[in-house]
Amino acid sequence: MTPFYRDNGSLMSDQVSLSELAEKFGTPLYVYNRSAIEFAWQEFSKALAGHPHLICYAVKANSNLAVLDALARLGSGFDIVSEGELQRVLAAGGQPEKIVFSGVGKTTREMEAGLAAGIRCFNVESPSELERLATVAAAHGTKANISLRINPDVDAQTHPYISTGLKENKFGINMAEAMLTYRRAAELDSIEVHGIDCHIGSQLTKLEPYADAVRLLVEMVDKLASEGIQLSHIDVGGGQGIQYSEEESSLNVDAWASCIRDAIGDRKLEILVEPGRYIVGPAGVLLTRIEYLKSNEDRHFAVVDAAMNDLIRPALYSAWQAIESVETLPRESKVYDVVGPICESADFLGKQRTLAIAENDLLCVRSSGAYASVMSSNYNTRPRVAEVMVDGDSVHLVCAREETESLFARESLLP
Ligand code: LLP
Repeated sequence: MTPFYRDNGSLMSDQVSLSELAEKFGTPLYVYNRSAIEFAWQEFSKALAGHPHLICYAVKANSNLAVLDALARLGSGFDIVSEGELQRVLAAGGQPEKIVFSGVGKTTREMEAGLAAGIRCFNVESPSELERLATVAAAHGTKANISLRINPDVDAQTHPYISTGLKENKFGINMAEAMLTYRRAAELDSIEVHGIDCHIGSQLTKLEPYADAVRLLVEMVDKLASEGIQLSHIDVGGGQGIQYSEEESSLNVDAWASCIRDAIGDRKLEILVEPGRYIVGPAGVLLTRIEYLKSNEDRHFAVVDAAMNDLIRPALYSAWQAIESVETLPRESKVYDVVGPICESADFLGKQRTLAIAENDLLCVRSSGAYASVMSSNYNTRPRVAEVMVDGDSVHLVCAREETESLFARESLLP
């Protein structure tokens, strides 16, 4: 699936020209491709076919209602981390019985919201959370279905900021404590023990960390069964990596699924998976227009109209995302730092990129469907940008550009 391709030198998505989208909706602009999102989701569904499974899209990667809508129509489940994400999923037509609730800091109010909606499972991350959930469920005369998130202490071999399965990370419960916590959970009347889960990190491109983690989880499933605590599902988290640069390759979903299925063997365990980036990352780009070109003794700069507030991954994680011209035009090629207008040296989208460009040209930042618009802010009182979804020859405005007045509408002058 190639959601963005060149036709006569111009970048297109399905039948739509990206230059025309920029003309019509302005820049900066996020552009998503519906079929790419659906295709990536179906890769998981095909790879896991024949084994009971539920794909719970990690809403945090891109929570736009249209994205959730497209996935809900495929029958997707959802992995949420806040009451806000719960409300979005329900507003987009997601089914509560396919929602799992992750996160280390669920509040009482969030637990109540999850219980009231009738979500499928809470992924509990600490003994204290378990006690709180039991109390909240009992107070509402109901039961909470849970899995425990295990921290298996395996190295995901990814960026330290997006690695979550090591004992130095705040996530999950260690193996020894998890056994005790399961025994405690089994005693609590308002708790139903359903599963086990882990999420060891994001942007994983190797299979070994998954194999190691799932092997450890399965060992625990067997140990619990020998004590009479039967689990019915194993949630292996998300983290499937995509290709950002030519030096990397994305995780092979078929190989990943075989590795998980092998580790599970013939145990009667439904597989839950929480992919975010893999489903939406490659399906989105950020379009930005070049305002100025400038040079000093050391460098050439392309100053564009998108900034770190619109796409923070390069500044925050030193993430590399491909940047290219939307139109192939006859220009001199130079090495540029592509920077935004914000007064911070960290305000760059890419450094040392070879580009053949002129002022007013359009650039496209690839792989911007995940952790991009959702992480944007209003720093420098910059309105958040518009988002459109391409679907064949149609284009839908799925998030309107923010109005500047709304940025200070909640504020007030002194009396
Ligand atoms: N499940 C849990 C419990 C998670 O914490 C996450 C992501 C996922 C699933 C989905 O992971 P994915 O399949 O998208 O890798 N902002 C960072 C990534 C943070 C990931 C946080 N957790 C970035 O831009 O790279």
